[in-house]
Amino acid sequence: MISSRKFNRFAIQVGLVVLALTSASACGGLSNGRQALRDASNETAAIYQSRCLSCHGSELQGRVGNETNLQQVGARLTEVDIASQIRDGSEDGLMPAFGDQLTEEEIAGLAGWLAEKR
Ligand code: HEC
Repeated sequence: MISSRKFNRFAIQVGLVVLALTSASACGGLSNGRQALRDASNETAAIYQSRCLSCHGSELQGRVGNETNLQQVGARLTEVDIASQIRDGSEDGLMPAFGDQLTEEEIAGLAGWLAEKR
């Protein structure tokens, strides 16, 4: 018999996973591509959707504060800066570093695409 507290935690985790899965699929497969992802390669769009969308949103609008809006990130940061941000994360630790999870090519794909957002 599992304690109800454990069960509750389990239920919450299942709920979060379900939420994450449904929101990811609601945010469109690669083919019905949202506006903001349309100009990304399929590979870049897929990485964005799995790694970045949770914080930066399906339209790059940002989901965790103004600073996470990437709709005009290319006007603020160079491609090199964007790649560094992805590789190293943010100094305040709010954005995780992806340097050990993504290849340089994948990071370059994301940075090149985002740098065009002006
Ligand atoms: C856990 C949430 C989270 C995830 C996941 C995340 N980011 Fe961020 N990102 C942030 C936050 C918060 C900021 C802004 C605050 C800061 O830089 O400290 C930010 C800032 C940025 C910036 C700089 C924006 C600016 O104007 O300075 C870029 C570029 C960026 N993220 C790209 C990405 C990419 C690409 C991914 C996926 C590989 C990603 N982020 C995943 C939270 C996240």
